[in-house]
Amino acid sequence: MLGSAAAGFLLFLLCALAGGQAVSKEAVRPDKLLVVTVATDTTEGYERFLRTARHFNYTVRTLGLGHEWKGGDVARTVGGGQKVRWLKEELEKHSEQDDLVIMFVDSYDVVIAGTPTELLWKFHQFEHKVVFSAEGFCWPEWSLAESYPPISNGKRFLNSGGFIGFAPQLYRMVQLWKYKDDDDDQLFYTKVYLDESLREKFDIALDHKSKIFQNLNGAIDEVVLKFERNKVRARNVAYDTIPVVIHGNGPTKLQLNYLGNYVPNSWTHEGGCEVCDDDLLDLSMLEDDALPQVLLGVFIEQPTPFLPQFLERLVQLDYPRNRLSLYIHNSEVFHEKHIQAFWENNKDSFTSIKIVGPEEALSQGEARDMGMDLCRQDETCDYYFSVDADVVLTNPDTLYILIQENKKVIAPMVSRSGKLWSNFWGALSPEGYYARSEDYVDIVQGKRAGVWNVPYIAHVYLIKGETLRNELSNKNIFTLPQMDSDMAFCKSIRDKSVFLHLSNRDEFGRLISTSKYNTSRLHNDLWQIFENPVDWREKYIHENYTKIFEEDYFEQPCPDVYWFPVFKEVMCDEFVEEMENFGQWSGGKNTDQRLAGGYENVPTVDIHMTQVGYQEEWLKFLQEYIAPVTEKLFPGYYTKAKALLNFIVRYRPDEQPSLRPHHDSSTFTINIALNNKGIDYEGGGCRFLRYNCRVESPRKGWSFMHPGRLTHYHEGLPTTRGTRYIMVSFVDP
Ligand SMILES: *[C@@H]1O[C@H](CO)[C@@H](O)[C@H](O)[C@H]1NC(C)=O
Ligand SMILES: *[C@@H]1O[C@H](CO)[C@@H](O)[C@H](O)[C@H]1NC(C)=O
Ligand SMILES: *[C@@H]1O[C@H](CO)[C@@H](O)[C@H](O)[C@H]1NC(C)=O
Repeated sequence: MLGSAAAGFLLFLLCALAGGQAVSKEAVRPDKLLVVTVATDTTEGYERFLRTARHFNYTVRTLGLGHEWKGGDVARTVGGGQKVRWLKEELEKHSEQDDLVIMFVDSYDVVIAGTPTELLWKFHQFEHKVVFSAEGFCWPEWSLAESYPPISNGKRFLNSGGFIGFAPQLYRMVQLWKYKDDDDDQLFYTKVYLDESLREKFDIALDHKSKIFQNLNGAIDEVVLKFERNKVRARNVAYDTIPVVIHGNGPTKLQLNYLGNYVPNSWTHEGGCEVCDDDLLDLSMLEDDALPQVLLGVFIEQPTPFLPQFLERLVQLDYPRNRLSLYIHNSEVFHEKHIQAFWENNKDSFTSIKIVGPEEALSQGEARDMGMDLCRQDETCDYYFSVDADVVLTNPDTLYILIQENKKVIAPMVSRSGKLWSNFWGALSPEGYYARSEDYVDIVQGKRAGVWNVPYIAHVYLIKGETLRNELSNKNIFTLPQMDSDMAFCKSIRDKSVFLHLSNRDEFGRLISTSKYNTSRLHNDLWQIFENPVDWREKYIHENYTKIFEEDYFEQPCPDVYWFPVFKEVMCDEFVEEMENFGQWSGGKNTDQRLAGGYENVPTVDIHMTQVGYQEEWLKFLQEYIAPVTEKLFPGYYTKAKALLNFIVRYRPDEQPSLRPHHDSSTFTINIALNNKGIDYEGGGCRFLRYNCRVESPRKGWSFMHPGRLTHYHEGLPTTRGTRYIMVSFVDP
């Protein structure tokens, strides 16, 4: 199957042939091609370059590995002369090989996107001995711009980050180099090119239209990715060319990172990568005791719903406890009780636990620097795994999977359930803030799966200990002036040319929302049904609730009285505690008012949802969880799930033990038992007079549902000991 890129190239060949400039087949000899590059460190950029070269079977010679770089800081100033010196030495070996073609390219910020055959074809089309890449900026001496030969279209100026030529000509050209290592290589080549006699002598041309070399600086908008089935190719739409070498020069490092996610074919629509698998670490053969030692850094930086569940999931991580130590920073007094409970249950299960509480008054950045430094300073710390309290890791293998990805820095992709809010950015704005990349939505939604090089990650990530001790040895990673800690973290790492990776190859979990968390109540999570519906459901809804629909998991103890599970015990308990904490039970004096309103036929000792600010939340619960049951059990009736009267009733022998027979002012009523007969109380239950049918053993967390008027005249049976609580709603009054 031919992708567009391959087809485009074929077309190009055909046109070239038709144009009569045919290059003989013999001229294209991939075995007579050598790629020469320079790298003093095996950075991730260098490894990426090699991976792409290897993908197409290029023969690569790397100069300078392990040598100290004396070529100056080329990112910020001029320099790079050392590259020419090394190249000069290397070319001595090849000076006599007339048929050898040598391509020189930078490595840290370059990817190769086409085959040696394609490269050679395109080179021969130039019909010059040497071809340099071109760009729109005249650097480093803009005053030389006027000396360039005029051109009608294309990029006018030489860039020395990539050139290709026959070995003898290149050899003779670099013989002219007799400068210092920190002198500028580009200026040197520019002067050679601008000297007309030298230009002719070495037969130099510039690749004005990116037929071979695409410099991204100043050309970002000209380069697009063309997707076709499972092939991707970068195309220059200004000149309609398909460059073979892509160079993220100048400030275009991040754009190259982006293109490098796709080129060459490192990604497929079916999910997964072709070339990103080759450096996976295999942990499967290791005994537990031989697994890497991990420091787990936990950050609670704001009041966070479902925190006990979060802490519990840390313990559930599928990784040997004796290979994990724990650092917790908690900045909230509100959460100290949760941390305390967690510590008491788990203090012996981790290698060590260090807890830094709100009394230390650390800024978020300081706390994160501190946690990371614990791993950096400890030679035995192989990985630092940082997790914020708003991360729900539903995949217990997350840590294991991330270690196997074998990256210096990698985050598991997590997003808000059903939303596009996630823990990464696909692109940066010029000011360094969020910008949406073309692929952002597809990655969040898992339509493109792989390991991605992105400019920003947050909330949860794994970093190698050796990376902390080498590239990231500066302790202030999160604390840069005038910058939030998350932005500082990413900038610190990007500035060290370490890649920020993100994996969505597996499902890892989600993010919860902390922004509307009101902690003024006793059990604040109860109010989270709108903001964090998935976590709310997990915490509060009965595990067998879905079986009602899947396998008719309900009972019918009396005619048209249905009985089904809906609340977990914790919901019942928190509900009752919340009401007792509120404490304003009606009884006698408060009931008159409601009787006058004509809603309640019989007074009860109760607290209404309106009183505790739970009416909206309760109606949402009715819509989400009760309406579907109603429609299943009473087919043809579509409930609006409207209810004015929603209240918790308390029955006690010495207060109000029972309720005389009555109808409910509802189309149907639900009645959920909130505690346990035999443990919390004796007696209780309900009798339906028309059928003379009793339900005497209500189950905690189970709901009755029955018609309200006409047929289901009923009474509450006396509670004889303890206190019984039920939750009642008159639905569709
Ligand atoms: C790369 O080279 C190897 C060995 O020479 C060969 O088997 C393989 O087919 C080549 N791959 C490509 C994509 O040309
Ligand atoms: C939090 O809830 C209380 C009621 O318990 C309410 O008075 C207060 O306004 C709420 N705070 C915010 C910020 O919504
Ligand atoms: C859910 O149903 C299963 C099987 O019917 C049962 O074993 C389990 O105890 C139920 N769970 C609860 C919390 O009642």
